[in-house]
Amino acid sequence: MRLFLVVFLTFVVLLNNIDASFLFGQPCSIRNTAYLKVHKWIAPPGEINCVDVTGFKKNMHNKIRLSNYTNFFNKASNADTLYADHINITRFPILIVKSLPNLELIDLSGNKIRKLPTKMFRLAPKLKKLLVSDNKIMIPKRVSLISSITLQTLMLSNNGIHTIYKYTFRKLPNLEVLYLDNNNLKTLNPMFGTLPNLKMLHVGRNYLTAIPPKELVSKSLRQFITKTQKKDIEKRSY
Ligand SMILES: *[C@@H]1O[C@H](CO)[C@@H](O)[C@H](O)[C@H]1NC(C)=O
Ligand SMILES: *[C@@H]1O[C@H](CO)[C@@H](O)[C@H](O)[C@H]1NC(C)=O
Repeated sequence: MRLFLVVFLTFVVLLNNIDASFLFGQPCSIRNTAYLKVHKWIAPPGEINCVDVTGFKKNMHNKIRLSNYTNFFNKASNADTLYADHINITRFPILIVKSLPNLELIDLSGNKIRKLPTKMFRLAPKLKKLLVSDNKIMIPKRVSLISSITLQTLMLSNNGIHTIYKYTFRKLPNLEVLYLDNNNLKTLNPMFGTLPNLKMLHVGRNYLTAIPPKELVSKSLRQFITKTQKKDIEKRSY
């Protein structure tokens, strides 16, 4: 009887989790994901938590005639997660992001994006996680990279970033987790004190010559990953 109960409860828990999307601890699956492709779209019968546009790459750069896809975006309007990763797009998919007003996670990892829209809060007012590792993000000198009061996690690993500036992260007051590993940074000084809520910072595999104390980076910093720094010599050899 007890075994039966355990099996039954496990089954109930699994069933309940099926609809949960990435943000709620479960990966997106075919049951909760709507797929936008070049000539068609596929949506599950139940709730849509995730949108996958990786099959839409060819249309991404054209001026998307959103009116053609009204039904798709209406149906997916509650989605909190967008996948547009590893498809070599060179621009941030502004129109698609704008059409999904409830996004909390945007995954654009593994593309060739250079510029992020500064006024991110207008495009994605609920954004919590922005994944842009393995791109070519350029850090502007005199303005913030993006502004968003909701953003909590920003992944900028492996973007060939050489320098950050004092304005770079100034407009992300609630950022808690920042990945800057595998870039070409020599110093973190310009970011000192600009991220009041930062809890985790990963800066491994850069060219940092000195590792500053945690408190100097942010008073709230708890996890500070700095291993391992690359040597200049390594840089010269390629
Ligand atoms: C979008 O709609 C226009 C007319 O409204 C049509 O000519 C065009 O072929 C459509 N494009 C796609 C990809 O469906
Ligand atoms: C992206 O570009 C790389 C080369 O730069 C290529 O090897 C890869 O297959 C491309 N991927 C896609 C999905 O187009």
